[in-house]
Amino acid sequence: VKSYEYIQTTEPRPGVGQITLNRPKALNALSTPLIDELNHALQAFDSSPSISAILLTGSQKAFAAGADIKEMSTLTFSEAYTNSFIESWSLLTTTIKKPIIAAVSGHALGGGCELALMCDILYCTENANFGQPEIKLGTIPGAGGSQRLTKAIGKARAMELILTGKNFTGKEAGEWGVAARTFASWEELIEGALKTAETIAGYSRVAVMAGKEVVNKSQDLGVRDGVEYERRVFHSLFGSEDQKIGMKAFAEKKKAEWVHK
Ligand code: CAA
Repeated sequence: VKSYEYIQTTEPRPGVGQITLNRPKALNALSTPLIDELNHALQAFDSSPSISAILLTGSQKAFAAGADIKEMSTLTFSEAYTNSFIESWSLLTTTIKKPIIAAVSGHALGGGCELALMCDILYCTENANFGQPEIKLGTIPGAGGSQRLTKAIGKARAMELILTGKNFTGKEAGEWGVAARTFASWEELIEGALKTAETIAGYSRVAVMAGKEVVNKSQDLGVRDGVEYERRVFHSLFGSEDQKIGMKAFAEKKKAEWVHK
């Protein structure tokens, strides 16, 4: 077991791995050491045979207040370019195959908003504080915000938010389709996110991972290619033991006992 300085990891429910961003003094600002730990924990859960779904959260006060401004302030173009600054944040979207649920309370600003948008399901409190305030710092979103936020809420709203740096509430995130569900309190948020994670973890893991893969493909492919892609993956699941188990159990009116193969 690795011990972390800026995050905490737990297994709160069967099949559920929880990562809690824990850098309270900086409102969970996403420094490089924090992202390195996050990536390590994500990979550990992704390869753990006992975990099927991952919950990512922060504190009640802050999911994350953005990239670490103090760390970035003196960075030169050459350093940012040659080290591919922020690219390591993408591991969450490129490598992790198990579903990740973001539970957002408090500030989710800049990179914090972008990190939440990278997750597969976003839940938040109604008074969560989202925004892309980079324009106020003389820069622009750098972890996918201009693309993912625009896909989620449309060009008109995204352009206004990104060019004015105006924040939006968790309630608006729900109304605009950024958040799948909103909750009145922090306690309800965490309970709701854990319940969803547990529900997902109760299904066939191979089917869950395939479901995540094909939905995410829709963000990159046109509908015709996307449907073709979906069909290929759907066909491939006839090769899994769990598909046989699931359909046989339905026919026999029994509960499916997944083998995750
Ligand atoms: N980076 C580094 N430190 C940060 C930080 C950040 N993004 N956000 C907050 N902190 C630090 C503060 O500097 C402060 O530290 P000190 O106690 O050492 O002064 C501590 O966290 C607490 O913050 P505040 O005193 O400011 O708390 P507040 O409750 O008064 O305000 C806030 C909260 C409105 C979130 C405010 O902290 C804030 O505006 N933070 C910056 C938000 C921001 O601009 N985020 C975008 C960053 S750029 C980015 O993310 C680029 C990208 O696209 C990848």
